[in-house]
Amino acid sequence: MPARPTRVLTGITTSGTPHLGNYVGAVRPAIAASRDPGSESFYFLADLHSLIKAQDPARTQRSTLEIAATWLAAGLEPDRVWFYRQSDVPEITELTWMLTCVAGKGILNRAHAYKAAVDRNRAEGEDDDSGVTAGLFMYPVLMAADILIFNADRVPVGRDQVQHIEMARDFGQRFNHVYGREWFTLPEAVVEAHVATLPGLDGRKMSKSYDNTIPLFVPEAELRRLVFSIVTDSRAPGEPKPVEGSALYELYRAFATPEEAAAFGQAFADGIGWGEAKQRLADLLEREIAPLRARYLDLVARPGDIEDTLRDGARRLRERYATPLLAQVREAVGLRDLSQVRLGSLQEEEAPAAKPPLATFKQYREADGRFYFKLVEGERVLLQSHAFDAPREAGQAIAALRRGTLALAQAPATLGEGVDASDVRAALDAIAAADADRAAKTQA
Ligand code: TYM
Repeated sequence: MPARPTRVLTGITTSGTPHLGNYVGAVRPAIAASRDPGSESFYFLADLHSLIKAQDPARTQRSTLEIAATWLAAGLEPDRVWFYRQSDVPEITELTWMLTCVAGKGILNRAHAYKAAVDRNRAEGEDDDSGVTAGLFMYPVLMAADILIFNADRVPVGRDQVQHIEMARDFGQRFNHVYGREWFTLPEAVVEAHVATLPGLDGRKMSKSYDNTIPLFVPEAELRRLVFSIVTDSRAPGEPKPVEGSALYELYRAFATPEEAAAFGQAFADGIGWGEAKQRLADLLEREIAPLRARYLDLVARPGDIEDTLRDGARRLRERYATPLLAQVREAVGLRDLSQVRLGSLQEEEAPAAKPPLATFKQYREADGRFYFKLVEGERVLLQSHAFDAPREAGQAIAALRRGTLALAQAPATLGEGVDASDVRAALDAIAAADADRAAKTQA
């Protein structure tokens, strides 16, 4: 049975105009990864995250449009990639709460963004938490929900986000531990090694918060003007220049082939003048960005089409993954259908940590007149049988799977969408254990 494709997920906060750092750190590698046939990609606009930093509604809306158009202009194909807006998937916020209840507060205390705010307050002699919202503090939990809800395997991000992915692993692991099963895949951060953090105009990390960005789609003349404003030192033309610590060189390297980067490094050693080096960087950026800019301008002129694309992505994604997953998670934590309570057994139900829902076999006949079974867990189909000519054959296959005398790989059935063989084995083991338990009780 085929293993499921590797899930690649990443998001960009819609709190400003996309810049070269977002492009190099997130958009470009993510789009390249989405072309790998062995992967399933989830790319989204983190508009709920944006409310933490930017509380200007018009700006949030504008930024959402700009970032959506950026993804599309850079080559994202919405029929091959899950492309959506975070706030269109309410299951993410619901999962945020479930994770909040297992997340260690001590871990959140160590989050870089929160710690930086506390440090700033201390330096200014303020109260530690002065001006810090609970939203900033909880930021990593919302991010963990973004990732865990789709069981992402790989999360391409810039280095600044790695700590958040580690926290997502931690919260996912805690949830799995508390609720007794591998509910969530633990994600890995993927950082493009040679462009880990793109510097901005002043040499610090390119960031909206430092006001040192080169927006991705400014007109060419503005792009060149910004490149010429990159801070350099006072070395004159003819003087050798080190590449280490040079923002100009780092920016060049992020857009160049390895050969071009090596030649640029050599030009530094040979004493290229700053003016000429900036000219070469501007030409290189323009080479990659010009075709994207043309597509971008065309896209932002049709905001209604972008809205439709995003809504459609979220609708399909909820139906396929988010709604069924939340149904399972609700069941896992005990937010359950009360009509299913067996009177007199409450004590027993409460026993150790919540037990996973027991999967069940369902046998049925299709319009084609043939017989089938499926193994379902809540709304999720774990296993779907092939057709049988007689109901008895379907029943025998079920019995053999229940007893463990028919190996899953030999079963006349295929795995449900997005289901791992290990999930099915775990469900069959649980059924076998419950069968044994029942038999023992009957004998007693
Ligand atoms: P955000 O919006 O700050 O940045 C989006 C992506 O761009 C990367 N990035 C950079 N990479 C290299 N050099 C830079 N100077 C640079 N500046 C930004 C960031 O590392 C990021 O990959 N919390 C996230 C958004 C988010 C998310 C998620 C990401 C929300 N949920 C789930 C991944 C998975 C953020 O604010 O990124």
